[in-house]
Amino acid sequence: MPAVEIKPGIYWIGVNDRTTDLFEGLWPISREGVSYNSYLIDDDKKAIIDLTKSLKGDEYLDNIDEILDISKVDYLVVNHLEPDHSGLLRTFRRIAPKVTILCSAKAKDMLEGFFSITENIQVVSDGDTLSLGKHKLQFFFVPFLHWPETIVTYETSNRILFPCDAFGGYGAIRGALFEDGCKHFEFYKQESLRYYTNIVANFSARVLTAIEKLSGLPIEIIAPSHGLIWRKNVSVIIDLYKKWAEYARGETEPGVTLVYGSMYGNTEAMMNAVAQGLSSTGVPLEIFDAARTHVSYILPSLWTKKGVVVGAPTYEVSLFPPVAEVMRMAAHKHIINKKLAYFGSYGWSKGALKELKGIVEPLKWEIAEAFEFNGIPTKEELKKGKEFGKRFGDLVKD
Ligand code: FEO
Repeated sequence: MPAVEIKPGIYWIGVNDRTTDLFEGLWPISREGVSYNSYLIDDDKKAIIDLTKSLKGDEYLDNIDEILDISKVDYLVVNHLEPDHSGLLRTFRRIAPKVTILCSAKAKDMLEGFFSITENIQVVSDGDTLSLGKHKLQFFFVPFLHWPETIVTYETSNRILFPCDAFGGYGAIRGALFEDGCKHFEFYKQESLRYYTNIVANFSARVLTAIEKLSGLPIEIIAPSHGLIWRKNVSVIIDLYKKWAEYARGETEPGVTLVYGSMYGNTEAMMNAVAQGLSSTGVPLEIFDAARTHVSYILPSLWTKKGVVVGAPTYEVSLFPPVAEVMRMAAHKHIINKKLAYFGSYGWSKGALKELKGIVEPLKWEIAEAFEFNGIPTKEELKKGKEFGKRFGDLVKD
């Protein structure tokens, strides 16, 4: 995608990635894609803010070439060292060996480990400024967003915040780079939430600290390193981030995530009865088959909704493994303070509920109700399941 001038002398020079299947080798993006946004400031001194993944290097370097001679770049700001923003670093240094890398002290240490780079590094302190000519940059430490070395860069004359991962999301750029010209706002909003829950959520307290720290800055544009650039109303994405970060405390939206798995359709039959009861209450409901849905897509629902219904059979005296994996990832992401209901089929031995309790009790999930049934559910049991769903829906709504 060609470079885009976002303000006089300031360019988006990123790369759209529609071929990587798994972000971080873990999270599916084959349908959605992702962008690695990089920015170039062409002033008396030339600066690039964050690079890209080592992918489509020619396209990336051509974008810079169209604006200026790459070997003339003076500074490279490394807000964050994760290789989706630094993968091209060694190539870049071969072309522009005199470029000075600006980064935190922690990033300096990590540069050696990741790329064996120890020279031409200038460590910045919190609040430091750097004049490029007409433009001035200021650096702020925001550690653990979501790595320990992370900083954000603020361009003072146009009031642009370059926050790297923060305020970004999955979703390749679909032609429109700015949120005000984008016809797919709901897609990017959902993909920002999925990115948040997959990548950032474990550091929600740090997100709130960073938002508070930066709250005194006049910000007219937020230019993250993934997804849309925000310029019409930056408070939309700031408020969303604040809301999602506050959900880490466990006070979330009245709604239910139903995660189920089924070997031969018995637990699925009960799931349909439970869903009937839940939906009769009007409570917002999302249903996921854990064996067929990557946890990346389930986490946003678990993160934002107050109630969780788990439907899973006993498998070898334990919780059906695809459902157990989802619950373990919820634990890994410290999703706390949920209201939980459980149902599931068993054959000759129970065990699923015991394992589920072991996973969620440390997370302070309150088990409202649970029932297990033997083999194929009877009509009476299905009726009981519908009533069970209705009771839980009413509980979560209240
Ligand atoms: Fe987009 Fe943490 O890298």
